[in-house]
Amino acid sequence: MEPVTLEIRDLHVNVEGKAILKGVNLVVKQGETHALMGPNGSGKSTLSYTLMGHPHYEVTQGDILINGESLLPLPPDERARRGLFLAMQYPVSVPGVTLNTFLHAATSAMRGYSDKAQPGARGRLNAHLIPFREFRKELNEDLEKLKMDPSFLQRYLNEGFSGGEKKRAEVLQMALLKPKFAILDETDSGLDIDAIRIVSENINRLQQELNMGILVITHYQRLLNYIYPQFVHIFYDGRIFQSGDASLVDVLEEKGYDWVKDEVAALRS
Ligand SMILES: Nc1ncnc2c1ncn2[C@@H]1O[C@H](COP(=O)(O)OP(=O)(O)O)[C@@H](O)[C@H]1O
Ligand SMILES: [Mg+2]
Repeated sequence: MEPVTLEIRDLHVNVEGKAILKGVNLVVKQGETHALMGPNGSGKSTLSYTLMGHPHYEVTQGDILINGESLLPLPPDERARRGLFLAMQYPVSVPGVTLNTFLHAATSAMRGYSDKAQPGARGRLNAHLIPFREFRKELNEDLEKLKMDPSFLQRYLNEGFSGGEKKRAEVLQMALLKPKFAILDETDSGLDIDAIRIVSENINRLQQELNMGILVITHYQRLLNYIYPQFVHIFYDGRIFQSGDASLVDVLEEKGYDWVKDEVAALRS
């Protein structure tokens, strides 16, 4: 079977009338790991939000496709159902909604339980949810792999979570939603080395299990010591400036981004 592909085709995006993405081209196949590396403000998070369909980000040109089907007309939840998952750089907190409630609802929706809900069916109050015991069993297994205490589930989503807790909560969500493509935006920010190890081990395990395509977005190399990219793309000023293999990571580590800036300036003059 042909691998599923996520294709970003000549993508141009405006934020509040200002051009931020200026023609991004990228193809990620299931099972591949790509790293997108660029300085702050180059538009990396804009790309990740646009992929998920955040309404603030206006696509003015180009397309985003999974297996040739455009995602642009689809709202975020439909994009998630097509297999896209975003671990955000700054996850929002939702006071009043526990992690458990959130995960149960999100997982049920992804697996089509909300479509199966029949008015009048026995136990109809919860007919749109995966049966509690079944869900809890799966959840407990995932919690254990992430070395998370079950009491964590009773806390309000991201409310007062440490950096490490937020990321673990996201990987937990990933484990339950089983995406085809995961976009990880600065997943290492705010993590100490032990948390990076646990989070990335679990991402790598999920990639094996699910044959996920991964797009790791980061401005420095630390996380890439744990999640090895086969393809590396240098991102600058709203587009991919150069692509290569993992050796590009070392080039950036050694030389920073100034040379990219200089070369872009030279190309334009
Ligand atoms: N919601 C927004 N409102 C206004 N400007 C934004 C918004 N999101 C991003 N930008 C602008 O877009 C540019 C790229 O930002 P961002 O995508 O966050 O870059 P990166 O993730 O590479 O640091 C920045 O100049 C930023 O100020
Ligand atoms: Mg960012």
